[in-house]
Amino acid sequence: MKRRAALERMTPYHAGERRPGAVKLSSNENPRGCSPAAARAAIAAMEEAHIYPDGAARDLKALLAEETGMKPEEIILGNGSDEVLTFIAAAYINPGDRTLVGEHTFSQYRFATNLMDGIVETVPMPDLRMDPDRFLERISENVRALFLCSPNNPTGLAISGNELEHLLRKVPRETLVVMDHAYIDYQDDPAACDARQYIREYPNLVVLRTFSKIYGLAALRIGFGLAVPERIAEMERVRSPFNVSTIAQHAAMAALKDEPFVTSTLEDNRTGKARMIALFQELGLPHIPSQANFLTIAVPTDAREFAREIANKGITVRPLNSFGLPQHIRITIGTPDQIELLEAAMRKR
Ligand SMILES: Cc1ncc(COP(=O)(O)O)c(C=O)c1O
Repeated sequence: MKRRAALERMTPYHAGERRPGAVKLSSNENPRGCSPAAARAAIAAMEEAHIYPDGAARDLKALLAEETGMKPEEIILGNGSDEVLTFIAAAYINPGDRTLVGEHTFSQYRFATNLMDGIVETVPMPDLRMDPDRFLERISENVRALFLCSPNNPTGLAISGNELEHLLRKVPRETLVVMDHAYIDYQDDPAACDARQYIREYPNLVVLRTFSKIYGLAALRIGFGLAVPERIAEMERVRSPFNVSTIAQHAAMAALKDEPFVTSTLEDNRTGKARMIALFQELGLPHIPSQANFLTIAVPTDAREFAREIANKGITVRPLNSFGLPQHIRITIGTPDQIELLEAAMRKR
């Protein structure tokens, strides 16, 4: 069989490790689960399991519009925000087009580019920061898109509002700026950016959000993109008709309405973060100041080795070798009980 040449560049995704019986702090999920109301809504939606989903997700879009201050026609739903990334690539990247991707960031920007025979240019992050000026330096005529992530996975560092505005002003209107805000709900630095406010001024901006993190719905695969109606209509052309299940749509609506769950998740995250930072300081392991639901630490040995030792004590964490950081580990901020186990495991190393 003659394969597409693009396949050679498509490397398998390295998912966070799952081990039966182990606590999973390797994929930045919500350690408390999902809102009980969302779980009930998902179960109730099984009544409609024999009927195709509403492909236009009208009710969910109406609710999201209220929550985000956008219009329903400024929203596109994806089977996870991962799928919205593939819509972006399918709608805007022609073979040979270039995209700019940070040196240490989420792998799916590369995946989406490679899928469409685009060419990824890696933007260096020498101080681990995603520096908009370094992206601007690389802009040329055949750069079709650049992918920003704030707070960034795996550093947790956020791009400031000023930095983003500066970049948006300088990027040509023909170049798409993708801002992945998967972790934005956790950020508490008032200087950190929220790209949503720039969408109407910059029609080349697409913002990605997900229900997989703070809403705890990673298994249901649901995320969304925000952009001006023209961009959304272009991406809609490459979306398959029933990409988001009825179960996911109903769970997402219930999750959006359950504010107390979100508030208590944030509170747990805040206290858990402080406790984990105290542990890392006690153990002399430098951490990156994160604006997300995980912390990344520098470790003295190879990250895979370090992660294996912790996993053998019952907690899976994420070695960052595949992110180009072979001496860093990313650990999801757990529940108080999980952090207690982590403390014991790390002190015993
Ligand atoms: C930065 C970033 N974007 C997107 C995703 C994927 O989100 P989804 O589950 O909505 O596909 C992740 C998942 O870890 C992520 O870290």
